[in-house]
Amino acid sequence: MSHRVLTGITTSGTPHLGNYVGAIRPAVAASREAGVESYLFLADYHALIKCDDPRRVARSRLEIAATWLACGLDPQRVTFYRQSDIPEIPELNWLLTCVTAKGLMNRAHAYKAATDANQAQGDEEDAGVTMGLFGYPVLMAADILMFNAHRVPVGRDQVQHIEMARDIATRFNHLYGQGRELFVLPQAQIDDAVAVLPGLDGRKMSKSYDNTLPLFDGGAKALRDTVAKIVTDSRLPGEPKETEGSALVLIHDSLATPQQRQAFHDDLAGGLAWGEAKARTTALLEAHIAPMREHYEALIARPDDIEDILLDGARRARAVAQPFMEQLREAVGLGRLGSARTGGTPGGAAGAAGSAATERAPVFKQYREADGRFYFKLSAHDGAVLLQSEGFEAGREAGQWVKRIRSEGAEAARQAPVALGPGVQWAAVEQALQRMMADDAQAAAQA
Ligand code: TRP
Repeated sequence: MSHRVLTGITTSGTPHLGNYVGAIRPAVAASREAGVESYLFLADYHALIKCDDPRRVARSRLEIAATWLACGLDPQRVTFYRQSDIPEIPELNWLLTCVTAKGLMNRAHAYKAATDANQAQGDEEDAGVTMGLFGYPVLMAADILMFNAHRVPVGRDQVQHIEMARDIATRFNHLYGQGRELFVLPQAQIDDAVAVLPGLDGRKMSKSYDNTLPLFDGGAKALRDTVAKIVTDSRLPGEPKETEGSALVLIHDSLATPQQRQAFHDDLAGGLAWGEAKARTTALLEAHIAPMREHYEALIARPDDIEDILLDGARRARAVAQPFMEQLREAVGLGRLGSARTGGTPGGAAGAAGSAATERAPVFKQYREADGRFYFKLSAHDGAVLLQSEGFEAGREAGQWVKRIRSEGAEAARQAPVALGPGVQWAAVEQALQRMMADDAQAAAQA
Protein backbone atom coordinates (compact mmCIF):
# COMPACT_ATOMS: atom_id res chain seq x y z
CA MET A 1 0.00 0.00 0.00
CA SER A 2 1.35 3.44 -0.81
CA HIS A 3 2.07 5.90 1.92
CA ARG A 4 -0.34 8.83 2.14
CA VAL A 5 0.63 12.14 3.67
CA LEU A 6 -2.04 14.78 4.28
CA THR A 7 -2.14 18.21 5.81
CA GLY A 8 -4.42 21.23 5.89
CA ILE A 9 -3.92 24.97 6.25
CA THR A 10 -6.59 27.09 7.86
CA THR A 11 -7.43 29.97 5.53
CA SER A 12 -7.78 32.82 7.95
CA GLY A 13 -4.59 34.83 7.43
CA THR A 14 -1.90 36.10 5.09
CA PRO A 15 1.19 33.88 4.71
CA HIS A 16 4.34 35.08 6.46
CA LEU A 17 7.96 34.00 6.53
CA GLY A 18 7.32 31.74 9.53
CA ASN A 19 4.71 29.80 7.52
CA TYR A 20 7.15 29.50 4.65
CA VAL A 21 10.07 28.22 6.71
CA GLY A 22 8.01 26.10 9.12
CA ALA A 23 5.38 24.57 6.83
CA ILE A 24 5.43 25.47 3.14
CA ARG A 25 9.06 24.79 2.28
CA PRO A 26 9.29 21.42 4.07
CA ALA A 27 5.91 20.26 2.72
CA VAL A 28 6.80 21.15 -0.86
CA ALA A 29 10.12 19.30 -0.44
CA ALA A 30 8.35 16.27 1.08
CA SER A 31 5.83 16.17 -1.77
CA ARG A 32 8.71 15.50 -4.14
CA GLU A 33 9.73 12.32 -2.28
CA ALA A 34 9.11 9.16 -4.27
CA GLY A 35 6.54 6.62 -3.12
CA VAL A 36 4.39 9.16 -1.30
CA GLU A 37 0.91 10.34 -2.21
CA SER A 38 0.41 13.86 -0.90
CA TYR A 39 -2.86 15.52 -0.07
CA LEU A 40 -2.76 19.19 0.73
CA PHE A 41 -5.88 21.21 1.29
CA LEU A 42 -7.20 24.61 2.29
CA ALA A 43 -9.13 24.10 5.53
CA ASP A 44 -11.72 26.74 4.71
CA TYR A 45 -14.49 25.19 6.81
CA HIS A 46 -12.11 25.42 9.75
CA ALA A 47 -11.55 29.09 8.87
CA LEU A 48 -15.22 29.81 9.59
CA ILE A 49 -14.66 28.68 13.18
CA LYS A 50 -12.02 31.36 13.72
CA CYS A 51 -13.25 34.14 11.50
CA ASP A 52 -16.67 35.54 10.61
CA ASP A 53 -15.42 38.13 8.14
CA PRO A 54 -16.32 36.76 4.69
CA ARG A 55 -13.89 39.07 2.89
CA ARG A 56 -11.00 37.91 5.00
CA VAL A 57 -11.81 34.23 4.51
CA ALA A 58 -12.21 34.70 0.75
CA ARG A 59 -9.02 36.72 0.42
CA SER A 60 -7.04 34.31 2.54
CA ARG A 61 -8.11 31.32 0.43
CA LEU A 62 -6.82 33.07 -2.68
CA GLU A 63 -3.59 34.24 -1.05
CA ILE A 64 -2.78 30.88 0.49
CA ALA A 65 -3.51 28.93 -2.70
CA ALA A 66 -1.37 31.34 -4.75
CA THR A 67 1.41 31.21 -2.16
CA TRP A 68 1.69 27.43 -2.17
CA LEU A 69 1.72 27.33 -5.96
CA ALA A 70 4.29 30.15 -6.14
CA CYS A 71 6.49 28.30 -3.64
CA GLY A 72 6.73 25.28 -5.90
CA LEU A 73 3.78 23.05 -5.07
CA ASP A 74 3.15 20.92 -8.15
CA PRO A 75 -0.60 20.27 -8.45
CA GLN A 76 0.13 17.34 -10.76
CA ARG A 77 2.00 15.50 -8.01
CA VAL A 78 -0.06 16.67 -5.07
CA THR A 79 -3.82 16.44 -4.69
CA PHE A 80 -4.39 20.11 -3.88
CA TYR A 81 -7.97 21.05 -3.01
CA ARG A 82 -10.34 23.03 -0.84
CA GLN A 83 -12.06 21.25 2.04
CA SER A 84 -15.35 22.97 1.13
CA ASP A 85 -15.29 21.41 -2.37
CA ILE A 86 -15.56 17.92 -0.87
CA PRO A 87 -19.13 17.41 0.42
CA GLU A 88 -18.13 13.95 1.70
CA ILE A 89 -16.06 15.66 4.43
CA PRO A 90 -18.99 17.27 6.30
CA GLU A 91 -20.91 14.06 5.69
CA LEU A 92 -18.18 12.03 7.37
CA ASN A 93 -17.94 14.71 10.05
CA TRP A 94 -21.48 13.80 11.08
CA LEU A 95 -20.85 10.05 11.16
CA LEU A 96 -17.81 10.69 13.34
CA THR A 97 -19.64 13.18 15.56
CA CYS A 98 -22.09 10.41 16.40
CA VAL A 99 -19.33 8.16 17.77
CA THR A 100 -17.27 10.84 19.50
CA ALA A 101 -17.54 11.09 23.27
CA LYS A 102 -18.42 14.58 24.43
CA GLY A 103 -15.93 14.10 27.27
CA LEU A 104 -13.13 13.67 24.75
CA MET A 105 -13.98 17.05 23.20
CA ASN A 106 -14.15 18.68 26.65
CA ARG A 107 -10.43 17.94 26.94
CA ALA A 108 -9.43 19.56 23.62
CA HIS A 109 -6.82 22.28 24.20
CA ALA A 110 -8.52 24.95 22.08
CA TYR A 111 -11.84 24.48 23.84
CA LYS A 112 -10.23 24.31 27.28
CA ALA A 113 -8.27 27.49 26.60
CA ALA A 114 -11.55 29.28 25.83
CA THR A 115 -13.35 28.01 28.93
CA ASP A 116 -10.31 28.70 31.15
CA ALA A 117 -10.18 32.27 29.89
CA ASN A 118 -13.89 32.66 30.58
CA GLN A 119 -13.48 31.35 34.09
CA ALA A 120 -10.53 33.63 34.77
CA GLN A 121 -12.69 36.59 33.76
CA GLY A 122 -15.62 35.42 35.82
CA ASP A 123 -17.73 34.82 32.68
CA GLU A 124 -19.98 31.88 32.08
CA GLU A 125 -17.86 28.87 31.20
CA ASP A 126 -18.98 28.51 27.58
CA ALA A 127 -19.39 32.20 26.75
CA GLY A 128 -18.53 32.82 23.10
CA VAL A 129 -17.86 29.13 22.42
CA THR A 130 -19.57 27.89 19.25
CA MET A 131 -20.38 24.32 18.38
CA GLY A 132 -17.87 24.80 15.54
CA LEU A 133 -15.07 25.36 18.04
CA PHE A 134 -16.24 22.52 20.23
CA GLY A 135 -16.40 20.11 17.31
CA TYR A 136 -13.21 21.37 15.64
CA PRO A 137 -11.26 18.15 16.29
CA VAL A 138 -14.02 15.98 14.79
CA LEU A 139 -13.98 17.94 11.53
CA MET A 140 -10.22 17.60 11.49
CA ALA A 141 -10.55 13.85 12.03
CA ALA A 142 -12.94 13.74 9.05
CA ASP A 143 -10.33 15.55 6.90
CA ILE A 144 -7.73 12.95 7.77
CA LEU A 145 -9.78 9.74 7.87
CA MET A 146 -11.61 10.55 4.62
CA PHE A 147 -8.37 9.83 2.76
CA ASN A 148 -6.95 7.22 5.13
CA ALA A 149 -3.80 9.29 5.60
CA HIS A 150 -0.92 7.48 7.27
CA ARG A 151 1.09 10.53 8.17
CA VAL A 152 -0.01 14.06 9.09
CA PRO A 153 2.71 16.72 9.30
CA VAL A 154 1.59 19.34 11.83
CA GLY A 155 2.86 21.78 14.41
CA ARG A 156 3.09 20.69 18.05
CA ASP A 157 -0.14 22.48 18.90
CA GLN A 158 -2.03 20.08 16.62
CA VAL A 159 -0.71 16.79 17.98
CA GLN A 160 -3.63 16.34 20.35
CA HIS A 161 -6.01 16.61 17.39
CA ILE A 162 -4.26 13.76 15.60
CA GLU A 163 -4.50 11.65 18.74
CA MET A 164 -8.20 12.41 18.87
CA ALA A 165 -8.53 11.38 15.22
CA ARG A 166 -6.95 8.03 16.16
CA ASP A 167 -9.34 7.61 19.08
CA ILE A 168 -12.34 8.40 16.92
CA ALA A 169 -11.14 6.08 14.14
CA THR A 170 -10.55 3.25 16.61
CA ARG A 171 -14.04 3.65 17.99
CA PHE A 172 -15.60 3.71 14.53
CA ASN A 173 -13.59 0.67 13.38
CA HIS A 174 -14.69 -1.19 16.48
CA LEU A 175 -18.37 -0.31 16.13
CA TYR A 176 -18.75 -0.73 12.40
CA GLY A 177 -15.71 -2.47 10.95
CA GLN A 178 -16.87 -6.05 11.61
CA GLY A 179 -13.27 -6.99 12.19
CA ARG A 180 -11.98 -4.89 9.28
CA GLU A 181 -10.08 -1.64 9.67
CA LEU A 182 -12.34 0.83 7.90
CA PHE A 183 -9.98 3.66 8.81
CA VAL A 184 -6.22 3.77 8.89
CA LEU A 185 -4.95 5.15 12.21
CA PRO A 186 -3.00 8.32 11.37
CA GLN A 187 0.36 9.32 12.85
CA ALA A 188 1.34 12.91 13.60
CA GLN A 189 4.64 13.96 12.13
CA ILE A 190 6.45 16.75 13.93
CA ASP A 191 9.62 17.89 12.35
CA ASP A 192 12.01 18.88 15.10
CA ALA A 193 14.61 19.99 12.58
CA VAL A 194 12.29 22.75 11.41
CA ALA A 195 13.02 25.57 13.81
CA VAL A 196 10.25 27.83 15.02
CA LEU A 197 11.08 31.19 13.49
CA PRO A 198 11.08 34.16 15.87
CA GLY A 199 9.10 37.24 14.93
CA LEU A 200 10.21 40.88 14.95
CA ASP A 201 10.11 40.99 18.75
CA GLY A 202 11.86 37.65 19.35
CA ARG A 203 8.71 35.72 20.33
CA LYS A 204 7.46 32.99 17.95
CA MET A 205 6.45 34.55 14.61
CA SER A 206 2.68 34.49 14.71
CA LYS A 207 -0.26 36.49 13.47
CA SER A 208 -1.65 36.55 16.99
CA TYR A 209 1.43 38.43 18.24
CA ASP A 210 1.34 40.85 15.30
CA ASN A 211 5.09 40.36 14.82
CA THR A 212 5.23 38.72 11.41
CA LEU A 213 7.31 39.32 8.34
CA PRO A 214 4.98 39.10 5.32
CA LEU A 215 6.17 36.73 2.64
CA PHE A 216 4.78 38.55 -0.41
CA ASP A 217 2.27 41.10 0.88
CA GLY A 218 3.46 44.67 0.30
CA GLY A 219 6.35 43.67 -1.98
CA ALA A 220 10.04 44.49 -1.58
CA LYS A 221 9.33 47.71 0.30
CA ALA A 222 7.30 46.04 3.03
CA LEU A 223 10.03 43.43 3.37
CA ARG A 224 12.72 46.09 3.87
CA ASP A 225 10.58 48.15 6.25
CA THR A 226 9.71 45.09 8.32
CA VAL A 227 13.30 43.88 8.60
CA ALA A 228 14.15 47.39 9.83
CA LYS A 229 11.75 46.85 12.75
CA ILE A 230 13.39 43.64 14.02
CA VAL A 231 14.47 44.26 17.60
CA THR A 232 18.23 44.05 18.25
CA ASP A 233 20.35 44.94 21.27
CA SER A 234 22.03 48.34 21.57
CA ARG A 235 25.61 47.34 20.81
CA LEU A 236 27.31 49.99 18.70
CA PRO A 237 29.02 49.57 15.32
CA GLY A 238 32.46 48.06 15.90
CA GLU A 239 31.41 46.23 19.08
CA PRO A 240 31.29 42.41 18.79
CA LYS A 241 27.67 41.21 18.57
CA GLU A 242 26.04 38.26 20.30
CA THR A 243 24.53 36.06 17.55
CA GLU A 244 23.05 33.44 19.85
CA GLY A 245 19.29 33.95 20.24
CA SER A 246 19.20 37.08 18.04
CA ALA A 247 15.92 37.25 16.08
CA LEU A 248 17.65 39.02 13.19
CA VAL A 249 20.29 36.29 12.95
CA LEU A 250 17.71 33.48 13.09
CA ILE A 251 15.62 35.15 10.40
CA HIS A 252 18.72 35.67 8.26
CA ASP A 253 19.85 32.08 8.76
CA SER A 254 16.47 30.60 7.88
CA LEU A 255 17.13 31.31 4.20
CA ALA A 256 20.94 31.43 4.14
CA THR A 257 23.34 28.81 2.81
CA PRO A 258 25.85 27.42 5.35
CA GLN A 259 28.58 29.68 3.88
CA GLN A 260 26.40 32.78 4.10
CA ARG A 261 25.57 31.91 7.69
CA GLN A 262 29.20 31.48 8.65
CA ALA A 263 30.21 34.77 7.03
CA PHE A 264 27.34 36.61 8.73
CA HIS A 265 28.21 35.20 12.17
CA ASP A 266 31.93 35.98 11.71
CA ASP A 267 31.24 39.54 10.60
CA LEU A 268 28.88 40.19 13.52
CA ALA A 269 31.43 38.83 15.97
CA GLY A 270 33.89 41.18 14.29
CA GLY A 271 31.71 44.24 14.97
CA LEU A 272 29.39 44.53 11.94
CA ALA A 273 26.82 47.27 12.66
CA TRP A 274 23.20 46.13 13.17
CA GLY A 275 22.09 48.53 10.41
CA GLU A 276 24.50 46.89 8.01
CA ALA A 277 23.36 43.44 9.19
CA LYS A 278 19.75 44.39 8.46
CA ALA A 279 20.66 45.56 4.97
CA ARG A 280 22.37 42.24 4.33
CA THR A 281 19.40 40.31 5.68
CA THR A 282 17.01 42.30 3.48
CA ALA A 283 19.15 41.59 0.41
CA LEU A 284 19.33 37.89 1.23
CA LEU A 285 15.58 37.52 1.83
CA GLU A 286 14.78 39.56 -1.24
CA ALA A 287 17.02 37.39 -3.44
CA HIS A 288 15.21 34.29 -2.21
CA ILE A 289 11.69 35.68 -2.25
CA ALA A 290 11.67 37.92 -5.36
CA PRO A 291 11.35 35.13 -7.97
CA MET A 292 8.54 33.49 -5.99
CA ARG A 293 6.84 36.86 -5.50
CA GLU A 294 6.85 37.42 -9.24
CA HIS A 295 5.19 34.06 -9.73
CA TYR A 296 2.75 34.87 -6.91
CA GLU A 297 1.73 38.15 -8.48
CA ALA A 298 1.14 36.49 -11.84
CA LEU A 299 -1.00 33.83 -10.16
CA ILE A 300 -3.04 36.14 -8.01
CA ALA A 301 -3.90 38.25 -11.03
CA ARG A 302 -5.60 35.19 -12.54
CA PRO A 303 -7.85 33.77 -9.82
CA ASP A 304 -9.79 31.75 -12.41
CA ASP A 305 -6.69 29.71 -13.19
CA ILE A 306 -6.21 28.94 -9.50
CA GLU A 307 -9.89 28.04 -9.29
CA ASP A 308 -9.40 25.52 -12.11
CA ILE A 309 -6.41 23.97 -10.37
CA LEU A 310 -8.35 23.60 -7.13
CA LEU A 311 -11.40 22.17 -8.89
CA ASP A 312 -9.21 19.63 -10.62
CA GLY A 313 -7.74 18.68 -7.25
CA ALA A 314 -11.24 18.37 -5.80
CA ARG A 315 -12.25 16.09 -8.66
CA ARG A 316 -9.34 13.77 -7.92
CA ALA A 317 -9.96 13.89 -4.18
CA ARG A 318 -13.62 13.04 -4.67
CA ALA A 319 -12.71 10.07 -6.86
CA VAL A 320 -11.33 8.65 -3.60
CA ALA A 321 -13.85 10.15 -1.17
CA GLN A 322 -17.08 9.26 -2.96
CA PRO A 323 -16.67 5.48 -3.22
CA PHE A 324 -15.23 5.36 0.30
CA MET A 325 -18.17 7.36 1.66
CA GLU A 326 -20.50 4.85 0.05
CA GLN A 327 -18.76 2.05 1.97
CA LEU A 328 -19.03 4.03 5.18
CA ARG A 329 -22.70 4.76 4.69
CA GLU A 330 -23.26 1.07 4.15
CA ALA A 331 -21.21 0.27 7.26
CA VAL A 332 -23.41 2.42 9.54
CA GLY A 333 -26.66 1.20 8.01
CA LEU A 334 -27.31 4.05 5.57
CA GLY A 335 -26.70 1.98 2.46
CA ARG A 336 -29.33 1.06 -0.08
CA LEU A 337 -32.48 -0.52 1.22
CA GLY A 338 -32.12 -4.26 0.93
CA SER A 339 -28.34 -4.16 1.27
CA ALA A 340 -26.58 -6.63 3.55
CA ARG A 341 -27.17 -4.48 6.63
CA THR A 342 -30.96 -4.47 6.47
CA GLY A 343 -30.85 -8.03 7.75
CA GLY A 344 -33.77 -9.02 5.50
CA THR A 345 -34.18 -12.55 4.23
CA PRO A 346 -31.23 -13.19 1.95
CA GLY A 347 -33.43 -14.95 -0.62
CA GLY A 348 -35.73 -12.95 -2.87
CA ALA A 349 -35.19 -9.44 -1.55
CA ALA A 350 -31.43 -9.70 -1.42
CA GLY A 351 -31.36 -11.03 -4.98
CA ALA A 352 -32.76 -7.79 -6.35
CA ALA A 353 -30.75 -5.67 -3.95
CA GLY A 354 -27.63 -7.60 -4.85
CA SER A 355 -27.92 -6.66 -8.49
CA ALA A 356 -28.60 -3.04 -7.58
CA ALA A 357 -25.42 -3.05 -5.52
CA THR A 358 -23.27 -4.57 -8.25
CA GLU A 359 -24.58 -1.99 -10.70
CA ARG A 360 -22.70 0.58 -8.66
CA ALA A 361 -19.63 -1.47 -7.84
CA PRO A 362 -16.43 -1.10 -9.85
CA VAL A 363 -16.11 -3.68 -12.62
CA PHE A 364 -13.44 -5.53 -14.55
CA LYS A 365 -13.89 -5.84 -18.28
CA GLN A 366 -11.92 -8.21 -20.52
CA TYR A 367 -11.93 -7.65 -24.24
CA ARG A 368 -10.00 -8.05 -27.47
CA GLU A 369 -8.83 -5.12 -29.61
CA ALA A 370 -8.44 -4.83 -33.37
CA ASP A 371 -4.71 -5.49 -32.88
CA GLY A 372 -5.67 -9.05 -31.93
CA ARG A 373 -4.39 -8.69 -28.36
CA PHE A 374 -6.32 -9.26 -25.16
CA TYR A 375 -6.85 -6.51 -22.62
CA PHE A 376 -8.58 -5.84 -19.36
CA LYS A 377 -9.55 -2.73 -17.52
CA LEU A 378 -11.03 -1.79 -14.16
CA SER A 379 -13.71 0.90 -14.29
CA ALA A 380 -15.40 2.80 -11.48
CA HIS A 381 -19.18 2.70 -11.20
CA ASP A 382 -19.40 5.95 -13.18
CA GLY A 383 -17.42 4.44 -16.03
CA ALA A 384 -14.12 6.23 -15.31
CA VAL A 385 -11.15 3.99 -16.11
CA LEU A 386 -9.11 3.21 -12.99
CA LEU A 387 -6.68 0.68 -14.44
CA GLN A 388 -5.84 -0.17 -18.03
CA SER A 389 -3.78 -3.25 -18.91
CA GLU A 390 -1.27 -3.74 -21.68
CA GLY A 391 -2.20 -6.10 -24.49
CA PHE A 392 -1.63 -9.85 -23.93
CA GLU A 393 -0.98 -12.56 -26.52
CA ALA A 394 -3.38 -14.93 -24.78
CA GLY A 395 -6.79 -14.20 -23.31
CA ARG A 396 -5.94 -16.58 -20.49
CA GLU A 397 -3.11 -14.31 -19.33
CA ALA A 398 -5.48 -11.36 -18.98
CA GLY A 399 -7.97 -13.57 -17.17
CA GLN A 400 -5.36 -14.79 -14.70
CA TRP A 401 -4.37 -11.24 -13.80
CA VAL A 402 -7.98 -10.23 -13.25
CA LYS A 403 -8.54 -13.25 -11.03
CA ARG A 404 -5.41 -12.55 -9.02
CA ILE A 405 -6.11 -8.84 -8.56
CA ARG A 406 -9.67 -9.63 -7.58
CA SER A 407 -8.58 -12.03 -4.85
CA GLU A 408 -5.39 -10.29 -3.67
CA GLY A 409 -6.26 -6.62 -4.23
CA ALA A 410 -4.05 -3.62 -4.85
CA GLU A 411 -0.78 -5.41 -4.00
CA ALA A 412 -1.29 -7.68 -7.01
CA ALA A 413 -2.47 -4.79 -9.19
CA ARG A 414 0.81 -3.00 -8.59
CA GLN A 415 2.71 -5.97 -9.99
CA ALA A 416 0.44 -6.30 -13.02
CA PRO A 417 1.29 -4.75 -16.41
CA VAL A 418 -1.24 -1.95 -15.99
CA ALA A 419 -1.34 1.84 -16.08
CA LEU A 420 -3.49 4.10 -13.91
CA GLY A 421 -6.36 5.83 -15.69
CA PRO A 422 -5.97 9.58 -16.41
CA GLY A 423 -5.78 11.58 -13.19
CA VAL A 424 -6.34 8.46 -11.07
CA GLN A 425 -4.32 7.81 -7.92
CA TRP A 426 -3.53 4.46 -6.40
CA ALA A 427 -5.69 5.32 -3.41
CA ALA A 428 -8.78 5.29 -5.66
CA VAL A 429 -7.80 1.90 -7.05
CA GLU A 430 -7.26 0.56 -3.54
CA GLN A 431 -10.69 1.77 -2.45
CA ALA A 432 -12.38 0.31 -5.52
CA LEU A 433 -10.70 -3.06 -5.07
CA GLN A 434 -11.51 -3.11 -1.38
CA ARG A 435 -15.12 -2.49 -2.20
CA MET A 436 -15.12 -5.18 -4.87
CA MET A 437 -13.48 -7.71 -2.57
CA ALA A 438 -15.93 -6.92 0.22
CA ASP A 439 -18.83 -7.42 -2.20
CA ASP A 440 -17.31 -10.70 -3.40
CA ALA A 441 -16.89 -11.91 0.17
CA GLN A 442 -20.45 -10.97 0.99
CA ALA A 443 -21.78 -12.72 -2.10
CA ALA A 444 -19.76 -15.83 -1.18
CA ALA A 445 -21.13 -15.78 2.35
CA GLN A 446 -24.70 -15.54 1.09
CA ALA A 447 -24.24 -18.29 -1.52
N1 TRP B 1 -6.17 22.65 12.43
C1 TRP B 1 -5.04 22.78 11.55
C2 TRP B 1 -4.26 24.05 11.91
O1 TRP B 1 -4.86 25.01 12.35
C3 TRP B 1 -5.46 22.82 10.11
C4 TRP B 1 -6.10 21.55 9.72
C5 TRP B 1 -7.45 21.34 9.48
C6 TRP B 1 -5.46 20.32 9.52
N2 TRP B 1 -7.64 20.05 9.13
C7 TRP B 1 -6.46 19.38 9.16
C8 TRP B 1 -4.12 19.91 9.61
C9 TRP B 1 -6.16 18.04 8.90
C10 TRP B 1 -3.83 18.56 9.37
C11 TRP B 1 -4.83 17.66 9.01
O2 TRP B 1 -3.07 24.08 11.73
